[in-house]
Amino acid sequence: MCGIVGVLGKGPVAELLVDALKRLEYRGYDSAGVATLENGQIGRRRAEGKLRNLEELLKVEPLHGTSGIGHTRWATHGKPVEANAHPHMTDDVAVVHNGIIENFRELKAQLVAEGAPFSSDTDTEVIAHLITRELRAGKDPVAAVYQTLAHLQGAFALAMIFRGYDDLMIVARQGSPLAIGYGDGEMFVGSDAIALAPFTDQVAYLEDGDWAVITREGVAIHDRQGQSVERPVAKSLAAGLVVDKGNYRHFMAKEIHEQPEVVGHTLAHYLDLANYQVSLPDLPLDFSQVTRLSLSACGTAFYSCFVAKYWFERWAKLPVDVDIASEFRYREIAMDQGGAALFVSQSGETADTLASLRYCRDQRQHVLSVVNVQESSIARESDVVLPTLGGPEIGVASTKAFTCQLTVLACLAIAAGKARGVIGPELEAELVKALVEVPRHMATILRDETPYETLAHSLSKARDVLYLGRGTSYPIALEGALKLKEISYLHAEGYAAGELKHGPIALIDEGVPVIVIAPRDNLFDKTVSNMQEVAAREGKIILVSDADPTSTGCAVQTMLRVPTVHPFVTPLVYALPVQMIAYHTAVFMGTDVDQPRNLAKSVTVE
Ligand code: M6R
Repeated sequence: MCGIVGVLGKGPVAELLVDALKRLEYRGYDSAGVATLENGQIGRRRAEGKLRNLEELLKVEPLHGTSGIGHTRWATHGKPVEANAHPHMTDDVAVVHNGIIENFRELKAQLVAEGAPFSSDTDTEVIAHLITRELRAGKDPVAAVYQTLAHLQGAFALAMIFRGYDDLMIVARQGSPLAIGYGDGEMFVGSDAIALAPFTDQVAYLEDGDWAVITREGVAIHDRQGQSVERPVAKSLAAGLVVDKGNYRHFMAKEIHEQPEVVGHTLAHYLDLANYQVSLPDLPLDFSQVTRLSLSACGTAFYSCFVAKYWFERWAKLPVDVDIASEFRYREIAMDQGGAALFVSQSGETADTLASLRYCRDQRQHVLSVVNVQESSIARESDVVLPTLGGPEIGVASTKAFTCQLTVLACLAIAAGKARGVIGPELEAELVKALVEVPRHMATILRDETPYETLAHSLSKARDVLYLGRGTSYPIALEGALKLKEISYLHAEGYAAGELKHGPIALIDEGVPVIVIAPRDNLFDKTVSNMQEVAAREGKIILVSDADPTSTGCAVQTMLRVPTVHPFVTPLVYALPVQMIAYHTAVFMGTDVDQPRNLAKSVTVE
């Protein structure tokens, strides 16, 4: 989603701004821009498309200012064209914005009636005109911003610079994250600490309602009421993170291949490997007393919750509600006091997941989260954070974050089963051993990508692709379909295999590939019956399984072999084939694998 950077520097900042924006590219964007102050005047450059277009423009029309702001835009209001790219400005102020100003229509109508000249379709531009109105009424920038913030409804993060004020930047946070980086005689602002990593590791995070007045010498932070507040400055973990593709063609390929290692790290964090036991941090709740666990998340993180539902219910006999966070937050569900709610998010900034978390806090639930970005809002607002140790995930399509989420949730399900007396020492050791073997099985699958490359040719010609699975393979079918959709743009749907004859079977003919996720477990024979229904209608079966395809009695067009694993860990292992199907199909089709169209990595708006 939109990325914000800002620098009050010692020398020209345009190049620094673009470099910082590159570190935010993974969030997804469709245009970019920077503005700096030169001899007190605001100069701006903007370009549609990738950052290289902005870089080319800056070569021809450089900016020399030593203070400036930059932005990568992910279109919400208005098409992804240069006129809508940020910064938005008047002669007096330039603004970059992440989020949505919900009441911008009313504000715009008022400003237009007063004669403000609008030049974009964005909601952001109202902010520039509101501040300008206050400045022209004689207020200084601090008072003008404070007055303007009071008019804005919605979720946003803002950074602003002002004509004639070379040593001033004002920023604000209401719902969308913003970090301030402290340098030596320089100051930095970024949507996340990754953007600031080359500049400084001393970072403070604004809280909702905060706004800050920044000069090269320091920062004055105020809360919504205008009261002065302190926010801790801490050493950022992002500084040491390496963000490059290594020898891989895409971040997604690198991240797929990192899975044996990062899942191994995550396991080592949550298991006592010497004794084949789980070893979790102290939790704020006793699972033996919990009557219902509520899980919510979005996208791929939601599918990891969905797998976890099967795990908690099967192995801990703990009833679980699993919800898409954008639905959960508005359901106004009554929750028993002292209950437990768990949120899963790679970025830790997903707006709907964060809103669901806050709802549960208000309902006095114990709040647990599984996040990859430990400095994120979701992590900071949870009672207990169970980190996934996946490292930065840059590809928009989530891969290693998913399997690391599953890893943490599997360990948590075992811990819950133990606490509830369902899992005894022997079973615990059996399940832990199964988990420990997962990285090895993942590495085996990753060793030969040829079958996936071959399959990509035929899949790329499909109109629709169906994914089927039962039990924990059902969420994996959903995840497989999501992955294929988002990076290859092919239409794909996942179904519970047993649902096939209740509707989706109408789609099947010789042109429809059906990818069947079917580990040889207690549900295998049931899934085979569904495969037979597909085969009878000449659907093309692609079987992802450890079973012998001849044992199914169906014509299997493509066999994707998976090692035989304990049924508890099948979702962790079968996640990889569905990722590779999507990856190779997208590569074959020539799409932008790491930054697929229309998608953002961190979805900080509703
Ligand atoms: O950062 P989060 O895990 O909260 O993000 C949730 C979804 O936006 C994310 O999983 C999305 O569905 C991915 N693009 C899927 O590959």
